[in-house]
Amino acid sequence: MIKRAQKLDVLLSKEQLDQRCQQLGTQISEDYRGEELHVIAVLKGSFMFLADLVRQIDLDVSIDFLGLSSYGSRRETSGVVRMTSDLALPIEGRHVLVVEDIIDSGLTMNYLLENLKTRRPASIAICTLLNKGTNRHIDVPIEYVGFDIDDEFVIGYGLDDAEFSRHLPYIGVVRQESET
Ligand code: IMP
Ligand code: MG
Repeated sequence: MIKRAQKLDVLLSKEQLDQRCQQLGTQISEDYRGEELHVIAVLKGSFMFLADLVRQIDLDVSIDFLGLSSYGSRRETSGVVRMTSDLALPIEGRHVLVVEDIIDSGLTMNYLLENLKTRRPASIAICTLLNKGTNRHIDVPIEYVGFDIDDEFVIGYGLDDAEFSRHLPYIGVVRQESET
């Protein structure tokens, strides 16, 4: 029994996530038709989205991973971003698609984009499953958005609450303690 999940409301069901991955995969396949696509997934949060998304992409796809973490309190980005593990492969001359779980303030993705641009890829585009647009501190260009969501703390489908709940097959909203 998962005790932590009892405090959750389902925001996006497995069916909604599956359907959106299929739509995004189709769109990406059309946009990059005739090209090879190099997908970079940001660990750990994007692992489940990545796995579902790439299976819907009908192109020659290569995949690499990098790890980022931002210092700060558990539920807020401090803006101080740290690379915890770097890419294994060069990206020079490649068409890069960065796959992220969620973009909130934009500070993490801004840091990553600036870093990746110095490695001279042919192009860089961003695909985020979730977009919390109301809390944006810095503008980042996002080509593909799964869902626009309100400024609420969400977990599941890769996203964690202090490292728990990443394995849930849906996206849930953590209810306030006073509501339970
Ligand atoms: P940003 O730098 O504020 O855009 O934050 C992005 C990062 O903060 C994401 O990659 C997540 O790791 C984390 N994050 C932001 N909002 C949430 C949330 O609602 N649930 C879980 N993690 C989140
Ligand atoms: Mg993340």
